[in-house]
Amino acid sequence: MSSTQGAIRFSKANITYPNGVVGMKSLDLEIKPGEFVVVVGSSGAGKSTLLRAVNGLNPLTSGEVEVDGIAVPQKQGAELRALRKRVGMIFQDFRLVKRMSVMSNVLIGRLAHVPGWRAMFNLWPMHDREVAMQALERVGIPDKAWVKASELSGGQQQRVGIARALAQEPAIILADEPVASLDPVTTHQIMKDLVRINRELGITTLVNLHFLDLARQYGQRIIGLRFGELVYDGSAATVTDEDFRDIYGRDFTEDDLLDEGSEG
Ligand SMILES: Nc1ncnc2c1ncn2[C@@H]1O[C@H](COP(=O)(O)OP(=O)(O)OP(=O)(O)O)[C@@H](O)[C@H]1O
Ligand SMILES: [Mg+2]
Repeated sequence: MSSTQGAIRFSKANITYPNGVVGMKSLDLEIKPGEFVVVVGSSGAGKSTLLRAVNGLNPLTSGEVEVDGIAVPQKQGAELRALRKRVGMIFQDFRLVKRMSVMSNVLIGRLAHVPGWRAMFNLWPMHDREVAMQALERVGIPDKAWVKASELSGGQQQRVGIARALAQEPAIILADEPVASLDPVTTHQIMKDLVRINRELGITTLVNLHFLDLARQYGQRIIGLRFGELVYDGSAATVTDEDFRDIYGRDFTEDDLLDEGSEG
């Protein structure tokens, strides 16, 4: 296993997009290694901006963001590649190569670990194949290794997405609305997978979520954003409806809940 840490620190961080839109405003935030953090906020609040700043996909306009005490490089190069090797991403739309096998998709998570020519000729070292297979076991679908990605259900495809991130042996996992394309039952399964993996491996995990009941149920720590600003930071166990109203700047409705009215 990699020397995992995964501490994240933002100091007075600002992101203003070229069109003048403020995506992040004076953010001070510290996340400790192994934390499971859920990020909530209205559409456009800056959730994706925050996640993407951690691996340098969104450069800061000013201020600082560090991973394990090292400033996230704000331009392309070897240092940024070294950081990205340690940060796995999980996407709403899975981002699999559908015509390829599950195994080939998971091996993409090993790309930064092996010489390019090996990957190009599909000459993956045994160690990397083993890491990929272990990742598939971790998400419970080792039997799908040789199935084409396009033949999987949505939930299975997202498990491949998680396995690909795990194959990186990352210190940090960033999941941007990982359940937004899934049905409610599958949503709960995937959230449970993410929580279990966080506990088992201690990988710092940031998850953007739309649904407040999910945030409450699965978050340890909840961070609320509004217009790019941090407006809430507290434990999921104690977050109140009033807190959510403040984060959203409005009353919330059944549309903000996955299981409307059914679970407390
Ligand atoms: N590449 C970009 N160029 C210009 N503005 C952007 C860009 N990306 C995001 N924004 C703007 O920055 C703000 C924050 O966007 P962001 O995508 O982080 O929000 P979000 O909370 O993830 O929203 P959603 O829930 O809809 O995914 C929004 O006003 C958005 O329009
Ligand atoms: Mg977003």
